[in-house]
This record gives sequence, C-alpha cells and structure tokens, in this order.
Amino acid sequence: MRSVAAVVFAVALVALAGLEAQRSNGKFDWMSYDNFDQIIDRMDSVTPENCNSKPSAELRLHPDTVSQLPLTNRLLSTIIYPNRTSLLHLHNMALNRAFFHSYVNQILNNSQVDHKMQPGLMYFYFSTEADIAANPWGINGSAVMFDNNCSYANWYTNLEFNNTLPLFGPRAWRFDDYNDPTNWLREPTNETLNIDDYGAGPEHNYSNPSYKINQWYDYWMPDYDPSRDSVMKHTYTVGIKFSNETGRFVNDEFEGRSFFGPPQPSQNSPEEDLPVRFTAPYYDCGRSNKWIMSATAPVLDYLPRYLEWMHLRRQRFVAATVLDIDFLTLDFNPCPTAQGNPAPNYFANTARCKPSTICEPLMGYGFQRGGYICMCRPGYRYPRWQNGPYLGVDIERATEEEYQYGFECEKVDWRVVIPIIDGSDNMPTTVATKYAVNKRDISQLSAGGSVDEPHNAPVVSRRKRSVSRWHGSDKAALLSALGLKESNLKKAKLSPRKRMAPKVSTKVEEPPKRVWAPRHQRDTSSFRVKRSFDQEARSRIERIIDHMNTINKDNCKIKTNTELNLPGDLAFGAKEQLQNQARTALRMAHFLSNFLENVDFYEEYGNLRGDRPLNFELLFGEAIANVMGDYKIFGSGVFFDTDKFKNMDGTTRQYFGPYSWRGSGTRTMAIDYAGHDETYIEDAWFVDVKERWQSNVYGLKKWTTKAMLRSNLFGTSLRRFEHYPMYYRAPSMEDGLWSAPYFDCDGYIDDWVITYSVPFFGMNTLGTNIEFKGVVIVDVKLEELDVNQCPGEFHVPNAFKSTARCDYESTYCVPLPGKRFTRGGYKCECLQGFEYPFNDRAWYYDGQTMEEEYDKMMRGERHRFNTLKCREAGAPRVSSGSVLLISVIASIMAFFGR
Ligand SMILES: *[C@@H]1O[C@H](CO)[C@@H](O)[C@H](O)[C@H]1NC(C)=O
Ligand SMILES: *[C@@H]1O[C@H](CO)[C@@H](O)[C@H](O)[C@H]1NC(C)=O
Ligand SMILES: *[C@@H]1O[C@H](CO)[C@@H](O)[C@H](O)[C@H]1NC(C)=O
Ligand SMILES: *[C@@H]1O[C@H](CO)[C@@H](O)[C@H](O)[C@H]1NC(C)=O
Ligand SMILES: *[C@@H]1O[C@H](CO)[C@@H](O)[C@H](O)[C@H]1NC(C)=O
Ligand SMILES: *[C@@H]1O[C@H](CO)[C@@H](O)[C@H](O)[C@H]1NC(C)=O
Ligand SMILES: *[C@@H]1O[C@H](CO)[C@@H](O)[C@H](O)[C@H]1NC(C)=O
Ligand SMILES: *[C@@H]1O[C@H](CO)[C@@H](O)[C@H](O)[C@H]1NC(C)=O
Repeated sequence: MRSVAAVVFAVALVALAGLEAQRSNGKFDWMSYDNFDQIIDRMDSVTPENCNSKPSAELRLHPDTVSQLPLTNRLLSTIIYPNRTSLLHLHNMALNRAFFHSYVNQILNNSQVDHKMQPGLMYFYFSTEADIAANPWGINGSAVMFDNNCSYANWYTNLEFNNTLPLFGPRAWRFDDYNDPTNWLREPTNETLNIDDYGAGPEHNYSNPSYKINQWYDYWMPDYDPSRDSVMKHTYTVGIKFSNETGRFVNDEFEGRSFFGPPQPSQNSPEEDLPVRFTAPYYDCGRSNKWIMSATAPVLDYLPRYLEWMHLRRQRFVAATVLDIDFLTLDFNPCPTAQGNPAPNYFANTARCKPSTICEPLMGYGFQRGGYICMCRPGYRYPRWQNGPYLGVDIERATEEEYQYGFECEKVDWRVVIPIIDGSDNMPTTVATKYAVNKRDISQLSAGGSVDEPHNAPVVSRRKRSVSRWHGSDKAALLSALGLKESNLKKAKLSPRKRMAPKVSTKVEEPPKRVWAPRHQRDTSSFRVKRSFDQEARSRIERIIDHMNTINKDNCKIKTNTELNLPGDLAFGAKEQLQNQARTALRMAHFLSNFLENVDFYEEYGNLRGDRPLNFELLFGEAIANVMGDYKIFGSGVFFDTDKFKNMDGTTRQYFGPYSWRGSGTRTMAIDYAGHDETYIEDAWFVDVKERWQSNVYGLKKWTTKAMLRSNLFGTSLRRFEHYPMYYRAPSMEDGLWSAPYFDCDGYIDDWVITYSVPFFGMNTLGTNIEFKGVVIVDVKLEELDVNQCPGEFHVPNAFKSTARCDYESTYCVPLPGKRFTRGGYKCECLQGFEYPFNDRAWYYDGQTMEEEYDKMMRGERHRFNTLKCREAGAPRVSSGSVLLISVIASIMAFFGR
C-alpha cells in the first residue's frame, strides 16, 4: 500500500515538474516563449504581499520595455505619433511643474513678505491633485518630492521662516474607490483622489537608498557637487509687465526676471543631461500596488534661501516633480526593428508576421498582444479572400494549422517601373493587358470576400471584422469595435495575458455595397460616406489658404474683423489632437476651482496655518509655466471676471488677467491684460464661456479629495486633515470651448491661432454657493494642427473633407499624423481586389505625390497623375502569367512549325 502511494506521489511530482518545465508559452504550442512572456512572468511574480521583501531589481522592469520615449531635445525635430502623446504629455507636465516651482522659489526670495506669498500647504496639495484630475486617462499620480532640509514651509506657526522641513513630498494619486461606503455602484468613479505627504509616516525617508522605488530621487539628488552646474542648470529669463489698476501698467517696459531652471539641452546632449527623465517601469509597492512609470524633472532653488551672505549660496536641485502613468496603458511596438521602430525595444520581434508581410504596430492596445497588423510587402498582394491586412489579434489566436497555411501574401507579377511622363492619359501597356486578362464582376468583390474561397484558407479570414478605424486615436471606439468591453479591460489589467484574444462578435453584418476598403481602415465605418473628390471643397480651402497667406503682423491692424476670422470647420480635429494642450488649461481650472471653493483663508488648525489668498506672482508663475512646459502652447492665461480677484490685503481688483506667451527667440513674456484700455471680458473666448456658466453651474462634476497631513514638523506619523473628505466641483473637457481660428493681432503671437477656454469656479462672497469666477485659456497656432483630407461622414464639419486626390475607384484614403497644416498628409492604399503596380518599394501612393502631380495637371504641365491608381489584382499566378506565356509560346511554335 505504501509503495503504491509512493509511486503516485512520484508520478505527481514528475507531472508537476513537467508542467513547470513547459512554462507559460503563448496560448498554443506553436508560439514560442519570448520577451513578452518573460515580462509577464516578472510582473506576475510580484504581489502586494511580497513586494516589500523583494530586492529593488525585481521591482523594476528593463528600461527598454518602454521604447521611443519623447526626448526633450528632439521634440521639435521628430514626429511624436499618437501612440506616444500620453508620454509626451507626462513629460510636459513634469517640466511645467518644475518650471513653476523653480520660478516661485527664486522670485519670491527677498523678504519675509515674499515668504508669505509662497505656495501654502493646500496649494501644493491641490496643485498635484489637479494634475491627475484633469487627465483621467493619462496621469495617475503626481508629486513634488523635496530633498532633505530644502522646503521652506510657510504653513507652520512653530517654524521660523528661515528653517526647513526635514522632508516634504506631497503626492496625489487616483484612488480606486469601488469599496467606498458612498459608492453604491461598486464601480470606480475615478473621481476620488488621495493626497499624502510622503515625507511623513513610518519608512518615509525616500532619500534613503533602502527606499527601493525612488529612482526619480537618484536622478537629481542629493545635489552637493557643483562641478556640473553649468550643464545641468540653465538661466531662464522672462519679461513681465504688471498692472496695478485697470487700464494702466506699472511700467511701460517689460521687467526682466531671471531664474535657474532645469537644463536646456542641445541636440546631442546625452540622456542624463535632459530636463525630463523617465524611470524604468516599477512596482508601486505599498501605494497603488500596480506597475507604473514616472516622468521626473528637477526643481531648483538658490540655497540657503534666506541668508545674508550671497557667496555661500548656490543654485541646487531641491525637489523632483514626479508624474506617474500606468504601465499597462502604454503601447509597445512588437515589430522587428526598422526605421519606424528603432532599437532599443525590448519587445521588438514579438509579432508573428509571415515573411511575405510587413508588420505595423496598432495604437491603443496597451500592454497586450495582438497590437499589430501584417501588411503585404511591396510586390505582394492579399489573396482574394483577405480583406485588407491580417490583424495581430487573429494571428495570436490561430491554431498551428491555421498559422501554417494562412496569413501569407501572393506575389504580384509584372510590376512596372515608374513611367517616363509623356503626357498621355493611359496606364502603361502591361497594366492594360492585365485588365484584359482579368476583368471581373465588381459585385463579387463585396467586403468580407466570399468569392471562390480555397478550402485551405484560414478560418479567421472568413470572419467579419469590424474595427472602424485606429487613426482616429479613439481607443474606446477601437475597443468596442473589437468587442472588448471596458469591463474586460479592467479585469485584464490584473493579468494582461488574458487580454490577448478579445472575442470578436460572430454576428455577420450585411456588407455595404461597393465599399471595399478593409473594414477596419475605411475612411469611416458608415454608409453615409461619399467616397469621392469634392472639387468645391477643394477650391474653397485653396481660397482660404491664399487669404491666410495675405495676412501678417504688419497689415493685420488695418484688416476687418471678417478678414481676421476663419470658419470654424477649418479647425476640425483640434478637440482630439490638441487634447493635451486643452488639459493643461483644464488642470489650471481644476486647481483654481478647488482652491477657491475649499481653502479657508487664514484659518488656523493648531500649529497649521490656513493658506493665504492666491496672489498675482503665483498666477503669473502658473501662466509662464504652461507656456514653458509645452512647445505647442503659444499662449496661456488666467482671466478673472469683474471684481472676482482678491488681493492678499483683502482688497478687490476690477480685472486681473495674467497672460504669458512665447516671445521671439526663447524668451517667455507675460503681461497683465488688466493694463489694456480694452478689457478682455468682451473678447469672444471669454464671453462665450461666461454666458453659459455665469447664472447656472449645473452639470459640473464633483470630485472627492482625501488628504492626509503630517502630525508634526518631523513627520513622525500621518493624520487626516480636519476636513476629510473634501469635495470640489470643476468642469470637464467638454465644458470648455475651442474657438474658430483667428488672427491674433495684439502684437503677442501675431499668427493664426485657435484658443481653448474653460471656466473656473469658487465660493461666492457669502460662502453658500459656487459661482463663475473666470476663464483659463491656452492658445495654439493653427499650423500645429494636422488636417484630414479624407472623405468623412456628411455631418462632420471638416473643411478639408474629401479634398484628398486619391483615385477612389481603386484606392482608399488614410490620413497620416504629424504632417501639420499642409495639404498632402494622407496616403492612398489599394482597395481589396486591387494591387499596387509599381516596382518602387512602396505599396501606396503618398499624398504629397498625389498633390504635386494633380497641381501639375491643373497647370497643364507634363504629369503622371493618371497613373497613380491601383490596378485590378491578377488571378492566382498559374492562371494569369503562365497561361499567357503558354499561349505565346504556342503561337510562336505554330509560327515556326508552319
Ligand atoms: C532674489 O532673486 C533675485 C533673482 O534671482 C536676485 O537678483 C536677488 O538678489 C535675490 N534676493 C535676495 C535677497 O536673495
Ligand atoms: C537637516 O536639518 C536638521 C536640523 O537642522 C539636521 O539635524 C539634519 O542633519 C539635516 N539633514 C541633512 C540631511 O542635512
Ligand atoms: C534665522 O534667522 C534668525 C534671525 O532672524 C537667525 O537668528 C537664525 O540663526 C536663522 N536661522 C537659520 C537656520 O538660518
Ligand atoms: C473609471 O476608469 C475605468 C478605466 O480605467 C473605466 O472603465 C470606468 O468606466 C471609469 N469609471 C467611470 C465612472 O467613469
Ligand atoms: C534620510 O536618509 C538620508 C540618507 O541616509 C539621511 O542623510 C537623512 O538624514 C535622512 N532623513 C531623515 C529625515 O531621516
Ligand atoms: C500704480 O502704480 C503707479 C506707478 O507706480 C502709481 O503711480 C499708482 O498710484 C499705482 N496705483 C495704485 C492704485 O496703486
Ligand atoms: C489609473 O487610472 C485609471 C482610471 O482612469 C485606472 O483605471 C487605473 O487602474 C489606474 N492605474 C494605476 C496604476 O493606478
Ligand atoms: C507609434 O506609431 C508609429 C507610426 O505608426 C510607429 O512608427 C511607431 O513605431 C509606434 N511606436 C510604438 C511604441 O508603438
């Protein structure tokens, strides 16, 4: 009996060992273990329970797991694709906060009066909170982490003005409140935010090497070595013009102010010298207990700040701004390294495209498999049953047999070289022959492709696909099109591998007639799209662009209002593309609303002093930081409504409108709009927002803040703030407005711009209700906007709609990102059943070429516009080329035989 048990036991052991050895490959045996699986295993091995005992190396992933990080010195010379805009925004916000804190640290330096004007405790708290509240999809945490003895806190009655706190690190992060007693839906609202002081409580010393997840600290601090000061610290100058009463400036000249800020890198600076650095992805142990990644930038001060002897003082990194993003939401590129996918990339080559195809990443998949497509190489075309590129998600769930026989492209015979232009309208002769050989009935080619399908065709290709478009950067749409519910995603967050193969609904829709572009890449997914070229729209935008070019900063003063304003449909796409610039304004609106609704001025709680009212220096600092932190923002300002701004001494100012803009050169300028004779409250961007909100604040979202404070100066423990929790009401993105394009002729930007304006709120004088207090704006140059010339639905207000010159009989139009406000930012790809005829290493026609050749044609020059089409695809190889060849040979033989 005992021996039987022993045998069973041994067998069980062997079986277990076997299971262990097999490891977690893909879903099927044919998928080999790769870097993606390895990272998943690494991530699975860390749990909230064991993370404290792991060495720091195990809490970090390889730095190359996130590739193509935005580098500050390359931002202007490279295109940042939509799949990296969230990282770019993280980068910009880190820089923005670093500029703000560096500026106020050094500008408010000279007396005890200035010390009181410095940000107070709630300023720090609400500012980090606003960073995440305004960025629900991008930013999950935000902090300012001070070094030892570097924060001159002004909110303790028992702390001398020239003394510091040992450590101070206010950090806000989005709290998963599904289990809150008030949350009866038991679903995270994403609107509860926690704020802690990381410099307090047990194990609070984040400057200590034994604190495992403080890579952001090590990048900048402790900063005792002056030898690299000249590289790492840059002196920035801003010019400011203050006003102390309506219609009057204190000085007629701009006052120049200098401060030390984060490094200003040159084109070839190494990564260590950049102002913003990214940490490797790490496990946020004991906090959110998730894998995150941070962007961090240094804050400077001139230390010791309040010392008589200037020669003992030195500019130092005193804090780091740390902004966190969820690692699982970051796209990676699984394709082999190539031009668009430079090394280092840890996940390069984890896609499973066949050799006859090229891999291209898809956007919005985050950290999961299948975020790619396999397109035919130049010189290859899709088999007839395949509607457009093979989807990564299909390949990832194919069985070995399906994979072996499917997902291939067929060779295109008889490709032609680019013809020498002779002005004739005909396609090259070889093409004409093909047409003759292979004329097929158009009606057979409806989407989905069921024309005489060979039986070895993979099953997946028969399935109806319905991803509408990914170029719209609309993740939600993409997910829902894939049949992936948000709730699946939430579950999947826990174990990314489960998300590899989202279910595609098996329901087959009626295929639309005569629309052959692959379902997931069609101009739009609806019937209501007229796929054709619109000459009228084209002439209209040509007229408008000619008009735009006639206006410049010298003649704009004498132009009429109509001439300086353009139709709103010209700025189509701003809402999505310039979302992050709008969110910068929204962040300001959140911060101001929170502050003006919640802060009890001058109220003291024990040793804790309440914050003082906002003062003009801080608001100028915020406007300046918005402009300095994001190269796309050309102007930003905060504009208070009439009699809503209170000075620190309790008096009211009629108008206050600090506005900052990018001056010529690198200098940032700022001015108080209250000093102008004409007031800003009649400008369209102010009036439009005010009219909506001044009498009715219904519809504002409510946010919950849970704030914890240090119990004493030394931060021995944390305790709840007196008001716990706190609430505030603030606008969302949709509550703000994008203006139509106009020429900004006030001598500041002097260019075509569009403006986003969003309201902010505060308590009324009685403290009973919330009222409209003013507007925050950002200005972006129109030239930053990408236009979309492809066809769209009839109701889409896009001036450029259907102005692309694709040949819609044989190609479909795909907009290309990053081409800015010029024509030609699209490509024309072959429709299903058509093939690219030229032998030039491409498989589509570039919009730039289309536009050039079209212009040549319109001017009556020699052109090859009429050859820029796809030709009808040949039948499988045997039947076309060889039949022809055989018949030629036969006739030759017949000739000689005669
Ligand atoms: C305050 O900062 C300015 C500019 O950085 C500097 O010129 C001035 O000397 C400083 N004042 C004091 C009292 O440190
Ligand atoms: C910070 O200041 C305190 C009190 O002055 C001092 O005891 C401590 O050593 C300082 N810490 C550092 C890291 O300089
Ligand atoms: C702070 O200032 C007071 C005088 O106002 C001086 O006696 C004291 O030494 C200063 N302390 C520090 C840490 O500089
Ligand atoms: C909160 O965010 C998650 C995704 O991160 C989303 O699924 C959920 O719908 C959001 N909740 C609300 C109330 O918007
Ligand atoms: C934190 O750790 C550092 C380095 O070990 C030390 O110098 C510093 O005094 C510590 N700070 C506090 C507040 O304990
Ligand atoms: C504003 O500043 C100017 C110049 O310094 C001064 O003459 C004027 O009295 C000030 N006005 C107010 C309201 O303080
Ligand atoms: C980030 O916030 C989103 C809500 O928008 C939430 O779904 C997600 O779990 C958060 N991620 C982390 C790492 O906290
Ligand atoms: C982002 O998209 C671009 C253009 O499609 C591509 O070249 C790049 O490799 C993608 N990057 C990542 C990380 O997916």
